[in-house]
Amino acid sequence: MFERLRNYFGKIKDRQINSLFNDCNRGKKFSVRLESILFDYAKTNIDETARNLLLDLLEDAKVSEKREAMFIGDKINETEDRAVLHIALRNKAENPIYLDGQNIMTKVIASLNSMKRFTADVRDGVFRGQGGKITDVVNIGIGGSDLGPAMAVKALAPYHDGPECHFISNIDGAHINDVLKSLNPKTTLVVVASKTFRTIETMSNAKTALRWMGKAVRNPTNQFVAISASTLETKAFGIKDDRVFGFDDWVGGRYSLWGPIGLSLMMAIGFKNFEEFLDGAHQLDRHFLTAAPLENLPVMLALTGIWHNQVCKYPSRAVLPYDQRLSRLPAYLQQLEMESNGKRVSLNGKLLSEPSSAIIWGEPGTNGQHAFYQLLHQGTQIVPCEFMVAAKGHEPELAYHHMLLLANCLAQSQALMSGRGLEAAREIAASKGFAGDMLEIQALHRTFPGNRPSTTLIYPKLTPNILGMLIALYEHRVFVEGVILNINSFDQWGVELGKELATDLVPILLSGEIPDNQDPSTQQLLSHIFFSNKG
Ligand code: F6P
Repeated sequence: MFERLRNYFGKIKDRQINSLFNDCNRGKKFSVRLESILFDYAKTNIDETARNLLLDLLEDAKVSEKREAMFIGDKINETEDRAVLHIALRNKAENPIYLDGQNIMTKVIASLNSMKRFTADVRDGVFRGQGGKITDVVNIGIGGSDLGPAMAVKALAPYHDGPECHFISNIDGAHINDVLKSLNPKTTLVVVASKTFRTIETMSNAKTALRWMGKAVRNPTNQFVAISASTLETKAFGIKDDRVFGFDDWVGGRYSLWGPIGLSLMMAIGFKNFEEFLDGAHQLDRHFLTAAPLENLPVMLALTGIWHNQVCKYPSRAVLPYDQRLSRLPAYLQQLEMESNGKRVSLNGKLLSEPSSAIIWGEPGTNGQHAFYQLLHQGTQIVPCEFMVAAKGHEPELAYHHMLLLANCLAQSQALMSGRGLEAAREIAASKGFAGDMLEIQALHRTFPGNRPSTTLIYPKLTPNILGMLIALYEHRVFVEGVILNINSFDQWGVELGKELATDLVPILLSGEIPDNQDPSTQQLLSHIFFSNKG
């Protein structure tokens, strides 16, 4: 499928990206605009021929048919026989969506309304803890039941006027200890977020939180709510049905922020802002469904991803938000992209002959500049970079900071592309007083090879609406890449084996005895743990 693209890349791979700007319209031609969002992919080696070949992939993989299938509720998650309808959670037009003969929008709206009522009750002090108005909300969940709300609450800090929100995900006792120790159990609401309500980390943390609250509060489960698809499990935990916000199997964990998993976000920013967040995502959905490929933001973002990962074979991709409030976005995208597309078997049960998801990593700029950008600029591997930045910050009094932030973001993509040649580096070394052999060595160290690709996404300001658009943009990008790779982006079998083996290791760790059926490395590790714990 990628052969023609790879052949073409073979011919142009040493071409300087800079040289493509001989076409003075390149900036415009190799960018996509959606309202006030601009996605610029002009600083990549994609030219018109490459782009046409990439666009052919959409036809070959039947992307538009599969997109339609997702939006109408076909069971495109084939290995789990499920529909994939997170788009229904933000279907603000309330167009009916039928699943097994039922219009699921009735349920979606009812669920949103019950979140709205409960959130208002908590924020207005109608729902109270034993000690009065709720001051703190603790979301206990992991993976999709944590990363989305944790990322979004941070991102939307300027809109946060509700209770403080805290997130506990790790089974490491340090996490729950450090969060709970400063909280008053009498004014804390615990949200146990787990689609299955069986995830060991979440259930262990929830039980610990219940014990913590039980020491200070008469009926601690009164200050607990659950978000889950399993009322059997929530009931067994002791949470009353009217305190359970349900969700269905057609919403995957990492796509679930738009519904009840977004409860702590709604508590933080209020219903109106949450609605704007949904509106942004819905707007992006409409755009994804209707815009022609060349003007389609998620499609073009996906095609740049395919170009760099599957065609150029660059194994990783850095996500670099020049936006401190998006500091959890790289972690969120790691789950969204790698749990979705990190697969090795195609939908028709064949081993993939192509690489699947890129390895996603990143940190907010400018912090990353003082850490790993050295490798981005001068390392031996090429890492395509995805920069993102708001045109405007939230702090008018700190506009100078924002201007510096913008300058840094733009400078990095320029430096990656243009680099600094040996001749210019020699001049710098000479100006520092180096001469002869030393000058040559110093000049090499100061040379930047350049020709390193990046894209830049500029949005007006990080509002709830824009955040909704950005997240939906990445969701659909993952979808398009998954369709082109012919994989199921909506299952996650790869997380199961480790969970099973951890369960088997629990009785061994409890017993302090090392059974023969463990491999020698694990036996050694166990013996070291037992020995260390003796003292
Ligand atoms: O182990 C992976 C995973 O299943 C994710 O897909 C999911 O988001 C996370 O665990 C949490 O699952 P749950 O919401 O059922 O606790």
